[in-house]
Amino acid sequence: MPAVALVVAAGRGERLGSDGPKALVPLAGRPMLQWSIAALQRAPGIERIVVALPEGVAAPEGCIGVAGGAERSHSVRNALAAAGTDADVILVHDAARPLLSAELVAACLAALDSGGGWDAAIAAAPVTDTIKRAPDGLAVHETLVRSELWAVQTPQVFRRTALERALARPDAELAAATDDAMLVERDGGRVRVVKAPRENLKVTTSVDLALAELLLGRGAGG
Ligand code: CTP
Ligand code: MG
Repeated sequence: MPAVALVVAAGRGERLGSDGPKALVPLAGRPMLQWSIAALQRAPGIERIVVALPEGVAAPEGCIGVAGGAERSHSVRNALAAAGTDADVILVHDAARPLLSAELVAACLAALDSGGGWDAAIAAAPVTDTIKRAPDGLAVHETLVRSELWAVQTPQVFRRTALERALARPDAELAAATDDAMLVERDGGRVRVVKAPRENLKVTTSVDLALAELLLGRGAGG
């Protein structure tokens, strides 16, 4: 079933502290955004790509550009509004994950239709750190069972109806969402993980950027 990909690239990249938008930061010879676009253009089953962009940035060749929103979920919502009405499956990806591979895209698309009536299939890697809850930043309340924990990434693939319902929530609720799948979970939707490599990292700080440069230079992603 053909899918539309939404790439969110409209963030300011404050934690990276680059001069311009994070999506355009040079990375292994290309602007960061181009790595994700190239992987999506290679992936079978993606028929259209919509990109939420920072102000004044042109859409990459072959993509539809839309303006970003105040928070990430608002950018997803703007991109979804430009996705057309023909696709029943919507993939959401962060431009800040330039190590996306066409294989991971294909695995997420296949997982959605793997039987089980899934509303979403999301890339995730098993957690390697021990995770504790310390809500006040001091006293530990709980140590979570590591073998049950997954560090969630993008791509996240959705039945269109489930994503539309999730994004119809009030602006403030969307603003607090750190991924789209949690909004679908809140609606009672069935969300499954798809095991993904830790290499599909998110570039947040300069350490991540250096690691991404190293991995892409070695031929990872794509
Ligand atoms: N994003 C977006 N619109 C926003 C905020 C974020 O499209 N209003 C996108 C970013 O461009 C990124 C992804 O969402 O691809 C994940 O966000 P994050 O890694 O937090 O990027 P930034 O918001 O740009 O970085 P920071 O939070 O450090 O400012
Ligand atoms: Mg952010």
